[in-house]
Amino acid sequence: MSSSVYTPPSQVKVLASTSQLKGLMTIIRAKATPRADFIFYADRIIRLLVEEGLNHLPVVDKAVETPTGINYHGLSFQGRICGVSIMRAGEAMEQGLRECCRSVRIGKILIQRDEETHQPKLFYAKLPNDISSRYCLLLDPMLATGGSAMKAVEVLLDNNVPEDHIIFLNLIASPEGIAAFVEKFPKVKIVVGEVDAGLDANKYIVPGCGDFGCRYFGTN
Ligand code: URA
Repeated sequence: MSSSVYTPPSQVKVLASTSQLKGLMTIIRAKATPRADFIFYADRIIRLLVEEGLNHLPVVDKAVETPTGINYHGLSFQGRICGVSIMRAGEAMEQGLRECCRSVRIGKILIQRDEETHQPKLFYAKLPNDISSRYCLLLDPMLATGGSAMKAVEVLLDNNVPEDHIIFLNLIASPEGIAAFVEKFPKVKIVVGEVDAGLDANKYIVPGCGDFGCRYFGTN
């Protein structure tokens, strides 16, 4: 499947394929890109994702008087938010969220594959106490099989976050991951930079950008 013919489900918002986004994606996907550039340009894409994610929050009309004495009829955001990063790669998206939302609360969830069952298993979660009354921006740069993301959403639901209060942000997704995710959680909104062709035998997204966390944090 190629991204040019892929039609995402209605709950998935793919960022507009502008020359800016395409150029940024080209840099982070190139294997020769040095780490400093990978971080810088991935951060720019993350900023675009956060800005788009915020567009899915509820708003109310609001009029303000400008210095000209004339009213501007605008809007105001309703509802409080928090971020929740899926460790480790999702932590790379925290700064972009902080840059857009001053002093935003950010929880963390660590999910790893269980050695025996091979299923995603929750190892650690630290979330804001009042998370059930907040809109949650769930952060993970790569949506591959969707296993960790779905487990993370289960954790949020167990903490009484309404499903339709979750906005999941990722840079690159596979069609398989999106399909599995939206089937299980149809009310979660996904905001994604690009949807790729699929997964390889090792469950890496292809063409993808390799291991996002290792490239961003400089590990193997
Ligand atoms: N995680 C990554 O970092 N890359 C992939 O391709 C899939 C999952």
